[in-house]
Amino acid sequence: MNMFGFSNGGKRSHGFLLLLAVVFFLSGFLTSPLVSLLKCSSPVKQLESLPPIRIHKAASALDPITDWSLTDLVLFRTKCGEPIRQEDAKTLLLNKVFDGISPFVEFPPELAKPYLREKRIRGWGSTGAVFARLVEEVKPKIILELGSYLGASAIHMATLAKSTFDHQVFIICVDDFRGWPGFRDKFKFHQTNGDVQLLYQFMQNVQTMNFTGNILPLPFSTTSAMSALCEWGVYADLIEVDAAHDFHSAWADINLGYSLLKPGGVMFGHDYYTKLDNRGVGRAVDLFARLKGLRVEPDGQHWILRSK
Ligand SMILES: C[S@@+](CC[C@H](N)C(=O)[O-])C[C@H]1O[C@@H](n2cnc3c(N)ncnc32)[C@H](O)[C@@H]1O
Repeated sequence: MNMFGFSNGGKRSHGFLLLLAVVFFLSGFLTSPLVSLLKCSSPVKQLESLPPIRIHKAASALDPITDWSLTDLVLFRTKCGEPIRQEDAKTLLLNKVFDGISPFVEFPPELAKPYLREKRIRGWGSTGAVFARLVEEVKPKIILELGSYLGASAIHMATLAKSTFDHQVFIICVDDFRGWPGFRDKFKFHQTNGDVQLLYQFMQNVQTMNFTGNILPLPFSTTSAMSALCEWGVYADLIEVDAAHDFHSAWADINLGYSLLKPGGVMFGHDYYTKLDNRGVGRAVDLFARLKGLRVEPDGQHWILRSK
């Protein structure tokens, strides 16, 4: 027994009480305002006090589309480059695509000569009344033709422009000059190593008709050619859409073409009513007109849309 009335066993109790006192002291200190202050200034607490970071999930291909009007299926580029001067368009295209030399220089090449006809011009509705009407009305300085084949409609428009008004028209003929799969079942073209030389026969027709100064082929797909024209700021007064006739091709051509139309310009095309591909062209034209608030003007087998 000691002075506190504890025995030896009481010594251990004494030690235990001391430990308890230290624990109480420390717990009091840790909850004191001073420690709270220290804790607040620590970087860990600062991070804890920030609102949680919101992670935005990127749209995945599996997410359902709720607003189709915001998808790339509808959103085409509507603003193109700074317009170049129309008198510079031909030089620009020659420089960009043909190393600055007209493709008609030293035409035709030896390899094509055996298969070319002096004049082999044919098309579909390529001389319809709509051409004379629009060339007379618009008096275009630059025409963009999407789908030229053997040049029938381009040559017809060049002839009309020459006879109806007094300035040089420049017609850009965009065509991959491949026709379409199976077109040789109907039209006999000699094929050499997979090439039917449609571009050369088109050029031969243009040369025979003396329009090498007015008509320039752009031998690419319509979409890639129009992307380039858009970037280079080449716009047209009159655009004829007559390339592939399925809905999706016509849809892309009409959308991209419209952005290349000068203010006051006119876009038109063939096969508005055709039953091919479930009226692919007609559906694309009607949908585009609805989307842009335009009025479709039918003219025989052709459709016409005017820039706003
Ligand atoms: C109906 S013909 C054009 C006829 C021409 N407008 C006429 O009336 O004399 C269609 C042409 O479009 C071309 N074509 C089809 N799809 C094309 C595409 N995606 N890009 C470039 N040319 C294409 C074909 O090679 C073909 O020569």
